[in-house]
Amino acid sequence: MPLSPEHWRLLEQAEHAPLTQLFADEPDRLDRLSLTAAGVRFDFSKTHLGRSLHDRAGDLAAAAGLAEAQERLFGGEIVNPTEGRAAEHPAERGSGSPEAVELAGARHSRMRALIDAIEAGAFGDVTGVLHIGIGGSALGPALLVDALGRHERRYKVEVLSNIDGQAFDAAVANLDPATTLVAIASKTFTTSETLRNARSALQWLGEADVEDPYGQLVAITAAPEQAVAFGIDETRVLPFADSVGGRYSLWSTIGFPAALALGFGAFEELLEGAAEMDRHFRLAPPDANAPFIAALADLLYTQGLRAGTRGVFAYDERLRLLPPYLQQLVMESNGKSVTADGQPLGRASSAILWGGTGTDAQHAVFQLLHQGTHLVPVEFVAIAEADDDQEPAHHRELLLNAFAQGAALMTGRSSDDPARNYPGDRPSTTILLQRLDPRSLGALLAFYEHRTFAEAVLLGINPFDQFGVELGKSIARAIDDLDQRASFDPSTRALIEEAGL
Ligand code: F6P
Repeated sequence: MPLSPEHWRLLEQAEHAPLTQLFADEPDRLDRLSLTAAGVRFDFSKTHLGRSLHDRAGDLAAAAGLAEAQERLFGGEIVNPTEGRAAEHPAERGSGSPEAVELAGARHSRMRALIDAIEAGAFGDVTGVLHIGIGGSALGPALLVDALGRHERRYKVEVLSNIDGQAFDAAVANLDPATTLVAIASKTFTTSETLRNARSALQWLGEADVEDPYGQLVAITAAPEQAVAFGIDETRVLPFADSVGGRYSLWSTIGFPAALALGFGAFEELLEGAAEMDRHFRLAPPDANAPFIAALADLLYTQGLRAGTRGVFAYDERLRLLPPYLQQLVMESNGKSVTADGQPLGRASSAILWGGTGTDAQHAVFQLLHQGTHLVPVEFVAIAEADDDQEPAHHRELLLNAFAQGAALMTGRSSDDPARNYPGDRPSTTILLQRLDPRSLGALLAFYEHRTFAEAVLLGINPFDQFGVELGKSIARAIDDLDQRASFDPSTRALIEEAGL
């Protein structure tokens, strides 16, 4: 339910004492604003969440109807009203209607059976997978394999998303067509980029004299009949539920390449970590609920302090794909200008999310964070334990850099020379995982899902549709039609002509 003007005022007009002042005034600040959930430590103490706003977290949650919304989400009720659907990604990790949980389990078992068959040699010698998909059908699997499969990857995995032929060439460069399975992942099985790449993959197999190119295809989809119509044998179609949104789908059979490459046990641990975060989000009171506090801070910055963006910096190479993954999750979910019942939102939607990897980003974009005129709430994601083969000094310096940046952004340093003055009072949140493993990554990703959901509940928007991407798709089709081209604007027509299309 929409927040009342009085509740919005709490966020918009919350007092903003400088961060260092907040620490001085609130001796319990660190204890109050740092917590551990599902084994992940969250430190919100360097945000401008003051005691008065934090104390009202429960009121704001109640006013927005958070508990009811959570019940609807976890109970498999309709939470995506524009498409008349539930959002059943939690059912993939055990929370949902009994039917949805059972079905998700059955589909995981089907995926496991396929993996067992591959391992048992039913597909001959398999050395790799070319996973073709885009958006949510690619970003999650790519992140999982890159984050968790650096040491032990049982199969080579390449994720191909872009329609650009350069991307295709790069993806197949190190794959052997004779021993590669091609997984075509598309919820709708109508996405033009994915189908174009799938056809090119068939051609790639055919040109290498693979005897039965279609025999090497696997489909992952919520539209199995389309996959069968494409020519993929029903036994190699891994379905998932229509009620699982693309950007929420890595828990479903969309996670196939990760489950194959990392082992099904690792995939199960990922789900368990997410389930633990689900429990935290459902049971922790709002003022000690990591996703809810994060969402509250997000709104404090977008609504109260007019921040248009927020930055996420992974201080770990293994999480370098986290920012692009979160961009889809957050911006496709909460980049809306109407409420769930179609009224104008009348306020800022979710911030633009951007980011990078530390320490690289320190030498590229952090200048603006420290001295620019834009307010950018920053998030540092770091892993306490190293998992590389180098001297411990590497990881130690990496972590020290992450923590030093948070401290420097907050305290700044004054100088009489304006060019050398650091104003400070710039907020950051730090998320620290003890180690990066399937369980902790599952918890981290579920945290981000629930934070996005909590923000949507507070804003009163539907985070589960994405009509904003449809116009571009239909225009791309129309522009390819010579009869329709004449109706395009002169700039677009001139560009098409110049490119010789
Ligand atoms: O264009 C946006 C989108 O619909 C995303 O929401 C989705 O993750 C992606 O395209 C891919 O869609 P599909 O899995 O149906 O191919």
